[in-house]
Amino acid sequence: MKVSVVGLGYVGSVAAVGLAAAGHDVLGIDVDKARVTTFRNGTLPIYEPGLSELLHTAVDRNKVRFLHTDEVSESLGQAILVATGTPTTPTGGADLSQVRSALSWITEKQRDHAVIAMKSTVPPGTGVRLHESILRGSKLEYVSNPEFLREGQAVYDWFHPDRIVIGGDNPESMQVVENLYSGIEAPYVVTDVTSAEMIKYAANAFLATKVSFINETAALCDRLGVPVDDVRRGISLDPRIGPSFLQPGVWYGGSCFPKDVRALDQLALTNGHNFELLRSVITVNNRQRLLPLFSLRAEFGKLRGVSVGVLGLAFKPETDDVREAPALDLIRALTDEGAAVVAYDPKGVPMARGKVPDEARLTNDMMDCVDGAQALVLMTEWREFLEADWAEIYDRTQSPHLLFDGRNVLDPARMQQLGFLYRGVGRPGGPMASHRTGVGAVIGDE
Ligand code: UGA
Repeated sequence: MKVSVVGLGYVGSVAAVGLAAAGHDVLGIDVDKARVTTFRNGTLPIYEPGLSELLHTAVDRNKVRFLHTDEVSESLGQAILVATGTPTTPTGGADLSQVRSALSWITEKQRDHAVIAMKSTVPPGTGVRLHESILRGSKLEYVSNPEFLREGQAVYDWFHPDRIVIGGDNPESMQVVENLYSGIEAPYVVTDVTSAEMIKYAANAFLATKVSFINETAALCDRLGVPVDDVRRGISLDPRIGPSFLQPGVWYGGSCFPKDVRALDQLALTNGHNFELLRSVITVNNRQRLLPLFSLRAEFGKLRGVSVGVLGLAFKPETDDVREAPALDLIRALTDEGAAVVAYDPKGVPMARGKVPDEARLTNDMMDCVDGAQALVLMTEWREFLEADWAEIYDRTQSPHLLFDGRNVLDPARMQQLGFLYRGVGRPGGPMASHRTGVGAVIGDE
Protein backbone atom coordinates (compact mmCIF):
# COMPACT_ATOMS: atom_id res chain seq x y z
CA MET A 1 0.00 0.00 0.00
CA LYS A 2 1.25 3.55 -0.63
CA VAL A 3 1.52 5.33 2.71
CA SER A 4 2.71 8.77 3.78
CA VAL A 5 4.09 9.63 7.18
CA VAL A 6 3.88 13.32 8.01
CA GLY A 7 6.33 14.35 10.74
CA LEU A 8 9.68 12.57 10.98
CA GLY A 9 10.42 12.83 14.69
CA TYR A 10 11.03 9.92 17.08
CA VAL A 11 7.65 8.29 16.27
CA GLY A 12 7.34 9.23 12.58
CA SER A 13 10.81 8.05 11.63
CA VAL A 14 10.24 4.63 13.20
CA ALA A 15 6.78 4.38 11.61
CA ALA A 16 8.08 5.34 8.14
CA VAL A 17 10.98 2.91 8.24
CA GLY A 18 8.93 0.17 9.94
CA LEU A 19 6.17 0.38 7.33
CA ALA A 20 8.74 0.33 4.53
CA ALA A 21 10.38 -2.75 6.07
CA ALA A 22 6.97 -4.43 6.04
CA GLY A 23 6.77 -3.85 2.27
CA HIS A 24 4.63 -0.70 2.02
CA ASP A 25 5.69 2.10 -0.32
CA VAL A 26 6.39 4.94 2.05
CA LEU A 27 6.76 8.68 1.63
CA GLY A 28 8.34 10.30 4.68
CA ILE A 29 7.45 14.00 4.84
CA ASP A 30 8.60 16.82 7.10
CA VAL A 31 8.53 20.64 7.17
CA ASP A 32 12.16 20.71 8.27
CA LYS A 33 14.42 20.71 5.17
CA ALA A 34 17.56 19.83 7.11
CA ARG A 35 15.83 16.82 8.64
CA VAL A 36 14.66 15.59 5.24
CA THR A 37 18.17 16.00 3.83
CA THR A 38 19.58 13.94 6.69
CA PHE A 39 17.24 11.06 5.86
CA ARG A 40 18.01 11.36 2.15
CA ASN A 41 21.71 11.07 2.94
CA GLY A 42 20.94 7.76 4.62
CA THR A 43 21.53 9.07 8.13
CA LEU A 44 19.16 9.68 11.03
CA PRO A 45 18.69 12.94 12.92
CA ILE A 46 18.07 10.91 16.11
CA TYR A 47 19.67 7.95 17.83
CA GLU A 48 17.39 4.92 18.00
CA PRO A 49 18.98 1.46 18.18
CA GLY A 50 18.43 -0.65 15.06
CA LEU A 51 16.74 2.11 13.06
CA SER A 52 19.73 3.00 10.91
CA GLU A 53 20.13 -0.59 9.63
CA LEU A 54 16.42 -0.77 8.87
CA LEU A 55 16.55 2.56 7.03
CA HIS A 56 19.40 1.39 4.79
CA THR A 57 17.55 -1.80 3.88
CA ALA A 58 14.36 0.12 3.09
CA VAL A 59 16.26 2.65 0.95
CA ASP A 60 18.13 -0.12 -0.89
CA ARG A 61 14.83 -1.83 -1.67
CA ASN A 62 13.41 1.47 -2.85
CA LYS A 63 10.58 1.25 -0.32
CA VAL A 64 10.95 4.68 1.27
CA ARG A 65 11.51 8.21 -0.03
CA PHE A 66 11.81 11.45 1.93
CA LEU A 67 10.33 14.77 0.82
CA HIS A 68 10.02 18.26 2.19
CA THR A 69 6.39 19.46 2.35
CA ASP A 70 7.04 21.98 -0.47
CA GLU A 71 8.28 19.23 -2.77
CA VAL A 72 5.19 17.02 -2.63
CA SER A 73 3.18 16.98 -5.85
CA GLU A 74 2.02 13.35 -5.92
CA SER A 75 -0.84 11.58 -4.14
CA LEU A 76 -0.07 10.83 -0.49
CA GLY A 77 -1.47 7.32 -0.87
CA GLN A 78 -4.25 5.36 0.73
CA ALA A 79 -3.17 5.98 4.32
CA ILE A 80 -1.53 9.08 5.80
CA LEU A 81 0.01 8.80 9.25
CA VAL A 82 0.35 12.03 11.21
CA ALA A 83 3.16 12.01 13.75
CA THR A 84 3.81 15.65 14.54
CA GLY A 85 4.61 16.93 18.02
CA THR A 86 2.06 17.99 20.63
CA PRO A 87 4.18 19.93 23.13
CA THR A 88 2.86 21.50 26.34
CA THR A 89 1.16 24.91 26.24
CA PRO A 90 1.98 27.48 28.96
CA THR A 91 -1.15 26.35 30.85
CA GLY A 92 -0.22 22.65 30.70
CA GLY A 93 -2.53 21.63 27.86
CA ALA A 94 -1.49 20.01 24.57
CA ASP A 95 -0.39 22.43 21.86
CA LEU A 96 -2.16 21.14 18.74
CA SER A 97 -0.80 23.72 16.29
CA GLN A 98 1.54 21.26 14.52
CA VAL A 99 -1.24 18.69 14.18
CA ARG A 100 -3.64 21.31 12.82
CA SER A 101 -1.18 22.62 10.27
CA ALA A 102 -0.30 19.05 9.17
CA LEU A 103 -4.01 18.32 8.60
CA SER A 104 -4.55 21.58 6.73
CA TRP A 105 -1.56 20.81 4.54
CA ILE A 106 -2.89 17.30 3.85
CA THR A 107 -6.34 18.62 2.90
CA GLU A 108 -4.68 20.98 0.40
CA LYS A 109 -2.45 18.32 -1.13
CA GLN A 110 -4.66 15.26 -1.15
CA ARG A 111 -7.54 15.32 -3.59
CA ASP A 112 -8.19 11.54 -3.63
CA HIS A 113 -9.87 9.57 -0.91
CA ALA A 114 -7.46 8.63 1.92
CA VAL A 115 -7.47 7.68 5.57
CA ILE A 116 -5.63 9.78 8.11
CA ALA A 117 -4.23 7.69 10.97
CA MET A 118 -3.48 9.98 13.89
CA LYS A 119 -0.33 8.82 15.70
CA SER A 120 0.31 12.09 17.55
CA THR A 121 -0.90 12.06 21.14
CA VAL A 122 -3.95 14.35 21.17
CA PRO A 123 -6.38 14.88 24.06
CA PRO A 124 -9.65 12.92 24.03
CA GLY A 125 -12.19 14.79 21.93
CA THR A 126 -9.59 16.28 19.57
CA GLY A 127 -10.14 13.92 16.65
CA VAL A 128 -13.86 14.55 16.50
CA ARG A 129 -13.25 18.32 16.55
CA LEU A 130 -10.50 18.20 13.93
CA HIS A 131 -12.71 16.12 11.69
CA GLU A 132 -15.47 18.70 11.99
CA SER A 133 -13.26 21.76 11.61
CA ILE A 134 -10.49 20.84 9.16
CA LEU A 135 -11.53 17.71 7.28
CA ARG A 136 -15.17 18.55 6.67
CA GLY A 137 -15.88 18.63 2.93
CA SER A 138 -12.71 16.70 2.05
CA LYS A 139 -12.43 13.08 0.96
CA LEU A 140 -10.35 12.33 4.03
CA GLU A 141 -11.39 9.94 6.79
CA TYR A 142 -10.03 10.20 10.33
CA VAL A 143 -8.88 7.25 12.43
CA SER A 144 -7.14 7.46 15.79
CA ASN A 145 -4.21 5.05 15.99
CA PRO A 146 -2.21 5.94 19.11
CA GLU A 147 1.40 4.91 19.44
CA PHE A 148 2.91 3.01 22.37
CA LEU A 149 6.55 2.93 21.24
CA ARG A 150 9.21 3.36 23.91
CA GLU A 151 12.22 5.41 22.88
CA GLY A 152 15.33 3.26 22.90
CA GLN A 153 13.26 0.15 22.11
CA ALA A 154 11.07 1.65 19.43
CA VAL A 155 12.13 -0.65 16.59
CA TYR A 156 11.39 -3.74 18.67
CA ASP A 157 8.10 -2.23 19.82
CA TRP A 158 7.07 -1.43 16.25
CA PHE A 159 7.28 -5.08 15.25
CA HIS A 160 6.12 -6.51 18.60
CA PRO A 161 3.41 -4.19 19.92
CA ASP A 162 1.46 -5.16 23.07
CA ARG A 163 -1.68 -4.03 21.30
CA ILE A 164 -2.87 -2.05 18.30
CA VAL A 165 -5.58 0.48 19.07
CA ILE A 166 -7.79 1.67 16.24
CA GLY A 167 -10.48 4.25 16.89
CA GLY A 168 -12.95 5.34 14.24
CA ASP A 169 -16.51 5.26 13.05
CA ASN A 170 -16.05 3.96 9.53
CA PRO A 171 -15.23 0.22 9.33
CA GLU A 172 -13.63 0.52 5.87
CA SER A 173 -11.25 3.25 6.99
CA MET A 174 -10.41 1.32 10.13
CA GLN A 175 -9.66 -1.71 7.96
CA VAL A 176 -7.19 0.37 5.92
CA VAL A 177 -5.31 1.20 9.12
CA GLU A 178 -5.47 -2.43 10.25
CA ASN A 179 -3.92 -3.45 6.90
CA LEU A 180 -0.88 -1.33 7.68
CA TYR A 181 0.00 -3.81 10.40
CA SER A 182 -0.71 -7.04 8.53
CA GLY A 183 1.91 -9.59 9.50
CA ILE A 184 2.28 -8.14 12.99
CA GLU A 185 0.83 -10.30 15.76
CA ALA A 186 -0.97 -8.26 18.40
CA PRO A 187 -4.38 -7.98 20.03
CA TYR A 188 -6.54 -5.28 18.46
CA VAL A 189 -8.61 -2.82 20.43
CA VAL A 190 -11.22 -1.46 18.06
CA THR A 191 -13.19 1.46 19.40
CA ASP A 192 -14.33 5.01 18.63
CA VAL A 193 -11.94 7.94 18.10
CA THR A 194 -12.32 9.56 21.53
CA SER A 195 -11.93 6.28 23.42
CA ALA A 196 -8.75 5.50 21.48
CA GLU A 197 -7.39 8.91 22.42
CA MET A 198 -8.30 8.30 26.05
CA ILE A 199 -6.56 4.89 26.03
CA LYS A 200 -3.29 6.57 25.14
CA TYR A 201 -3.53 9.13 27.94
CA ALA A 202 -4.73 6.62 30.51
CA ALA A 203 -1.84 4.26 29.65
CA ASN A 204 0.83 6.93 30.08
CA ALA A 205 -0.84 8.39 33.18
CA PHE A 206 -1.07 4.97 34.80
CA LEU A 207 2.60 4.17 34.12
CA ALA A 208 3.63 7.59 35.45
CA THR A 209 1.49 6.88 38.53
CA LYS A 210 3.38 3.63 39.11
CA VAL A 211 6.69 5.49 38.93
CA SER A 212 5.51 8.21 41.32
CA PHE A 213 4.07 5.56 43.64
CA ILE A 214 7.41 3.79 43.98
CA ASN A 215 9.20 7.13 44.34
CA GLU A 216 6.87 8.15 47.15
CA THR A 217 7.36 4.73 48.74
CA ALA A 218 11.13 5.20 48.40
CA ALA A 219 10.89 8.55 50.20
CA LEU A 220 9.14 6.88 53.12
CA CYS A 221 11.68 4.03 53.05
CA ASP A 222 14.40 6.67 53.36
CA ARG A 223 12.75 8.03 56.48
CA LEU A 224 12.29 4.58 57.97
CA GLY A 225 15.73 3.32 57.08
CA VAL A 226 14.17 0.53 55.01
CA PRO A 227 15.78 -0.39 51.65
CA VAL A 228 13.21 0.21 48.94
CA ASP A 229 14.83 -2.54 46.83
CA ASP A 230 13.49 -5.21 49.18
CA VAL A 231 10.06 -3.58 49.26
CA ARG A 232 10.02 -3.34 45.48
CA ARG A 233 10.94 -7.00 45.07
CA GLY A 234 8.44 -8.01 47.72
CA ILE A 235 5.55 -6.28 46.02
CA SER A 236 6.51 -6.92 42.40
CA LEU A 237 6.34 -10.72 42.84
CA ASP A 238 2.61 -10.28 43.21
CA PRO A 239 1.43 -10.79 39.61
CA ARG A 240 -1.30 -8.23 40.17
CA ILE A 241 1.40 -5.63 40.73
CA GLY A 242 4.26 -6.88 38.53
CA PRO A 243 7.85 -5.61 38.36
CA SER A 244 7.67 -3.03 35.58
CA PHE A 245 7.72 0.70 36.15
CA LEU A 246 8.62 0.27 39.80
CA GLN A 247 12.20 1.49 39.55
CA PRO A 248 12.69 4.51 41.83
CA GLY A 249 14.66 7.37 40.36
CA VAL A 250 15.21 11.04 39.77
CA TRP A 251 11.93 11.50 37.91
CA TYR A 252 10.05 10.26 34.89
CA GLY A 253 11.07 12.42 31.97
CA GLY A 254 11.04 12.42 28.21
CA SER A 255 8.75 13.90 25.66
CA CYS A 256 5.69 11.92 26.76
CA PHE A 257 4.94 11.25 30.42
CA PRO A 258 5.44 14.78 31.83
CA LYS A 259 3.47 16.44 29.04
CA ASP A 260 0.74 13.81 28.82
CA VAL A 261 0.10 13.71 32.56
CA ARG A 262 -0.10 17.52 32.64
CA ALA A 263 -2.40 17.55 29.61
CA LEU A 264 -4.73 14.95 31.11
CA ASP A 265 -4.86 16.92 34.35
CA GLN A 266 -5.65 20.07 32.35
CA LEU A 267 -8.27 18.25 30.26
CA ALA A 268 -9.92 16.89 33.41
CA LEU A 269 -10.06 20.39 34.91
CA THR A 270 -11.56 21.96 31.82
CA ASN A 271 -14.20 19.22 31.89
CA GLY A 272 -15.12 19.89 35.49
CA HIS A 273 -13.22 16.99 37.06
CA ASN A 274 -10.46 17.47 39.60
CA PHE A 275 -8.16 14.48 38.93
CA GLU A 276 -6.46 14.75 42.32
CA LEU A 277 -4.39 11.61 41.89
CA LEU A 278 -2.62 13.12 38.87
CA ARG A 279 -1.74 16.24 40.90
CA SER A 280 0.07 14.06 43.39
CA VAL A 281 1.81 12.14 40.62
CA ILE A 282 3.09 15.45 39.23
CA THR A 283 4.11 16.80 42.67
CA VAL A 284 6.06 13.66 43.56
CA ASN A 285 7.78 13.71 40.19
CA ASN A 286 8.77 17.36 40.57
CA ARG A 287 10.39 16.57 43.90
CA GLN A 288 12.36 13.62 42.56
CA ARG A 289 14.62 15.68 40.34
CA LEU A 290 15.69 17.72 43.37
CA LEU A 291 16.98 14.68 45.27
CA PRO A 292 20.58 14.86 44.02
CA LEU A 293 20.65 18.53 44.98
CA PHE A 294 19.38 17.74 48.51
CA SER A 295 22.06 15.10 48.85
CA LEU A 296 24.84 17.39 47.68
CA ARG A 297 23.69 20.21 49.94
CA ALA A 298 23.52 17.82 52.90
CA GLU A 299 27.11 16.79 52.27
CA PHE A 300 28.76 20.04 51.23
CA GLY A 301 26.52 22.77 52.63
CA LYS A 302 27.23 25.46 50.05
CA LEU A 303 27.99 24.16 46.58
CA ARG A 304 30.18 27.06 45.39
CA GLY A 305 33.36 25.60 43.93
CA VAL A 306 32.33 21.97 44.47
CA SER A 307 33.28 19.86 41.44
CA VAL A 308 30.45 17.64 40.27
CA GLY A 309 30.48 15.06 37.48
CA VAL A 310 27.06 14.34 35.99
CA LEU A 311 26.81 10.91 34.37
CA GLY A 312 23.94 10.88 31.90
CA LEU A 313 22.04 13.61 30.07
CA ALA A 314 19.44 11.65 28.10
CA PHE A 315 16.13 11.10 29.91
CA LYS A 316 16.67 7.33 29.68
CA PRO A 317 19.29 4.98 28.21
CA GLU A 318 19.53 4.04 24.52
CA THR A 319 18.29 7.40 23.33
CA ASP A 320 19.84 10.80 22.71
CA ASP A 321 16.59 12.53 23.68
CA VAL A 322 17.10 15.13 26.41
CA ARG A 323 13.57 16.51 26.44
CA GLU A 324 12.40 16.88 30.04
CA ALA A 325 15.59 15.16 31.12
CA PRO A 326 16.21 15.67 34.84
CA ALA A 327 19.97 16.01 34.27
CA LEU A 328 19.47 19.34 32.50
CA ASP A 329 17.53 20.79 35.45
CA LEU A 330 20.11 19.47 37.86
CA ILE A 331 22.95 21.06 35.89
CA ARG A 332 21.13 24.40 35.88
CA ALA A 333 20.54 24.22 39.64
CA LEU A 334 24.14 23.21 40.35
CA THR A 335 25.66 25.97 38.23
CA ASP A 336 23.25 28.49 39.82
CA GLU A 337 24.71 27.52 43.18
CA GLY A 338 28.26 27.90 41.89
CA ALA A 339 29.25 24.24 41.47
CA ALA A 340 31.78 23.36 38.77
CA VAL A 341 29.92 20.87 36.57
CA VAL A 342 31.19 18.47 33.91
CA ALA A 343 28.57 16.24 32.26
CA TYR A 344 28.86 13.19 30.05
CA ASP A 345 26.43 11.05 28.10
CA PRO A 346 27.19 8.29 25.56
CA LYS A 347 24.71 9.75 23.03
CA GLY A 348 23.03 12.84 24.45
CA VAL A 349 25.83 15.45 24.35
CA PRO A 350 24.93 16.95 20.93
CA MET A 351 21.24 17.28 21.89
CA ALA A 352 22.15 18.86 25.25
CA ARG A 353 24.35 21.56 23.71
CA GLY A 354 22.78 24.98 24.14
CA LYS A 355 20.34 23.62 26.73
CA VAL A 356 22.65 23.85 29.74
CA PRO A 357 24.36 26.99 31.07
CA ASP A 358 27.72 27.93 29.51
CA GLU A 359 29.45 27.43 32.87
CA ALA A 360 28.79 23.68 32.64
CA ARG A 361 31.19 21.70 30.49
CA LEU A 362 29.91 18.81 28.35
CA THR A 363 32.32 16.04 27.43
CA ASN A 364 32.31 12.97 25.21
CA ASP A 365 34.72 11.14 27.51
CA MET A 366 33.41 9.49 30.66
CA MET A 367 36.77 9.56 32.46
CA ASP A 368 37.13 13.26 31.67
CA CYS A 369 33.78 13.74 33.42
CA VAL A 370 34.79 11.93 36.60
CA ASP A 371 38.37 13.24 36.84
CA GLY A 372 38.79 15.29 40.01
CA ALA A 373 35.08 15.29 40.88
CA GLN A 374 34.21 15.57 44.57
CA ALA A 375 30.74 14.28 43.77
CA LEU A 376 29.32 12.13 40.98
CA VAL A 377 25.64 12.01 40.13
CA LEU A 378 24.37 9.16 37.94
CA MET A 379 21.27 10.44 36.16
CA THR A 380 20.76 7.86 33.36
CA GLU A 381 21.21 4.11 33.68
CA TRP A 382 23.37 3.60 30.57
CA ARG A 383 24.96 0.16 30.35
CA GLU A 384 28.33 1.90 30.03
CA PHE A 385 27.94 3.19 33.58
CA LEU A 386 26.85 -0.17 34.95
CA GLU A 387 29.84 -1.88 33.37
CA ALA A 388 32.38 0.85 34.15
CA ASP A 389 35.52 0.25 36.17
CA TRP A 390 34.32 1.84 39.41
CA ALA A 391 37.63 1.20 41.18
CA GLU A 392 39.35 3.36 38.57
CA ILE A 393 36.57 5.93 38.82
CA TYR A 394 37.04 6.05 42.60
CA ASP A 395 40.76 6.69 42.12
CA ARG A 396 40.01 9.54 39.75
CA THR A 397 37.56 11.29 42.08
CA GLN A 398 38.33 13.42 45.11
CA SER A 399 37.24 13.39 48.72
CA PRO A 400 34.53 13.02 49.91
CA HIS A 401 33.85 10.78 46.83
CA LEU A 402 30.09 11.33 47.05
CA LEU A 403 28.26 9.09 44.58
CA PHE A 404 24.55 9.80 44.09
CA ASP A 405 22.98 6.94 42.17
CA GLY A 406 19.84 8.58 40.81
CA ARG A 407 18.60 5.33 39.26
CA ASN A 408 19.45 2.79 41.98
CA VAL A 409 21.43 0.69 39.56
CA LEU A 410 24.79 0.38 41.30
CA ASP A 411 25.53 -2.09 44.09
CA PRO A 412 25.61 0.01 47.29
CA ALA A 413 27.78 -2.46 49.25
CA ARG A 414 30.40 -2.61 46.51
CA MET A 415 30.45 1.15 46.05
CA GLN A 416 30.89 1.67 49.80
CA GLN A 417 33.62 -0.94 49.83
CA LEU A 418 35.47 0.98 47.12
CA GLY A 419 35.31 4.06 49.35
CA PHE A 420 32.44 5.98 47.80
CA LEU A 421 30.01 7.86 50.00
CA TYR A 422 27.11 6.12 48.30
CA ARG A 423 23.60 7.57 48.19
CA GLY A 424 20.60 6.14 46.34
CA VAL A 425 16.85 6.75 46.13
CA GLY A 426 15.11 5.01 49.03
CA ARG A 427 18.29 3.24 49.94
CA PRO A 428 19.66 3.76 53.46
CA GLY A 429 21.31 7.15 53.85
CA GLY A 430 19.26 8.58 50.96
CA PRO A 431 18.38 12.24 50.60
CA MET A 432 15.00 11.99 52.33
CA ALA A 433 16.43 10.09 55.33
CA SER A 434 15.38 11.28 58.76
CA HIS A 435 18.44 12.97 60.20
CA ARG A 436 16.34 13.99 63.21
CA THR A 437 16.04 10.56 64.78
CA GLY A 438 18.54 8.50 62.86
CA VAL A 439 16.75 5.45 64.26
CA GLY A 440 14.23 4.43 61.66
CA ALA A 441 10.51 4.53 62.27
CA VAL A 442 8.81 6.67 64.87
CA ILE A 443 5.61 4.88 65.89
CA GLY A 444 2.65 6.81 67.27
CA ASP A 445 3.42 8.55 70.60
CA GLU A 446 6.39 6.43 71.51
C1 UGA B 1 6.49 6.22 27.14
C2 UGA B 1 5.62 4.96 27.16
O1 UGA B 1 6.27 3.93 27.89
C3 UGA B 1 5.33 4.48 25.74
O2 UGA B 1 4.44 3.37 25.77
C4 UGA B 1 4.68 5.62 24.95
O3 UGA B 1 4.47 5.27 23.60
C5 UGA B 1 5.59 6.84 24.98
O4 UGA B 1 5.85 7.22 26.35
C6 UGA B 1 4.86 7.95 24.25
O5 UGA B 1 3.82 8.38 24.74
O6 UGA B 1 5.27 8.27 23.14
P1 UGA B 1 9.12 6.69 26.78
O7 UGA B 1 8.80 8.13 27.02
O8 UGA B 1 9.99 6.32 25.64
O9 UGA B 1 7.75 5.85 26.57
O10 UGA B 1 9.83 6.16 28.09
P2 UGA B 1 9.55 5.10 29.24
O11 UGA B 1 10.40 3.94 29.07
O12 UGA B 1 8.11 4.86 29.42
O13 UGA B 1 10.09 5.93 30.50
C7 UGA B 1 9.52 7.20 30.86
C8 UGA B 1 10.25 7.77 32.05
O14 UGA B 1 9.93 7.01 33.23
C9 UGA B 1 11.77 7.73 31.94
O15 UGA B 1 12.29 8.94 32.44
C10 UGA B 1 12.18 6.58 32.84
O16 UGA B 1 13.46 6.75 33.39
C11 UGA B 1 11.11 6.69 33.91
N1 UGA B 1 10.91 5.42 34.62
C12 UGA B 1 10.39 4.34 33.96
C13 UGA B 1 11.23 5.32 35.96
O17 UGA B 1 11.70 6.30 36.58
N2 UGA B 1 11.03 4.14 36.61
C14 UGA B 1 10.53 3.05 35.98
O18 UGA B 1 10.35 2.00 36.65
C15 UGA B 1 10.20 3.16 34.61
